[in-house]
Amino acid sequence: MIKFKVPATSANVGPGFDCFGLAYSFYNEYQVEKADKMLIEGCDPAHTTKDNIFNVAFNETMKKLKKKGSFHVYYKPAIPSSRGLGSSASVIVAGCKTANILYGGIKKLSDDEIFQIASKIEGHPDNVAPAIFGGLTASTKLNSGKFFHKKYKVSNKLYFSVLIPNFKTSTEMARKLLPKSYKKEEAVAMLSHSVLMVEALQSGNFDLLKTVCKDYIHEPYRKKLIKDYDYIKKTVEKNGDAVLLISGSGPTLLVISNNKNFSKKLKLKGTKALWLVKPLKVLK
Ligand code: HSE
Repeated sequence: MIKFKVPATSANVGPGFDCFGLAYSFYNEYQVEKADKMLIEGCDPAHTTKDNIFNVAFNETMKKLKKKGSFHVYYKPAIPSSRGLGSSASVIVAGCKTANILYGGIKKLSDDEIFQIASKIEGHPDNVAPAIFGGLTASTKLNSGKFFHKKYKVSNKLYFSVLIPNFKTSTEMARKLLPKSYKKEEAVAMLSHSVLMVEALQSGNFDLLKTVCKDYIHEPYRKKLIKDYDYIKKTVEKNGDAVLLISGSGPTLLVISNNKNFSKKLKLKGTKALWLVKPLKVLK
């Protein structure tokens, strides 16, 4: 069997709604081999039907490769589902990679070709891009229908952790909460914040990051889905050495700090839900 892994990701990263993504040193692991019939093991049986996203991604990639065949996969799903950590992007990318590894032969698809297939299946490229390319990515769907991405390095002066709760939310529902239009002042702020957020993440300028990480597109509307949000935001940001953002569509929360020991010292005593504090490295 061939082994590979695909990382967890946080989409949005503050002002980069449907555009920015970060990849972490936290992975689903997959072991794959050629087979005559689809066999998926190691995950919830609900994810082993023919229409599961791993199989859809595998079949789309096989079409592109013009190959026929099936697979056997055993996977260890470490990334919790419906938590805003890109678990579906990880599974889609893994389905594409499985076809490419097992059946690509000497004409394997490039990472960009896999990015095109996986983004089309997921509907937006912001988790898929970092899951494939690592680091911080900005990605978009062009008018031609093609997806485009650019990768940036994140400064090692910044420290990342995610706070994962013991409840789930649905991205579909979280998208429905967003307004159809925004005020001009909010749109203008989002332009400057997003450009300067990339600068802050690359340079490690934490004062700049604190100023420009504010989002007006999704966080104000989604925070009500997240129990304990106000308490955690106040607790994380009280000493001025960390900011709290929603990871993807939530409910996981993303902490960025300039203090190496921030996550070790963080005490969340007054929460209703259980929260796992997980320090992570952003992949190079
Ligand atoms: N950008 C997407 C959203 C990510 O916030 O709805 C969801 O995975």
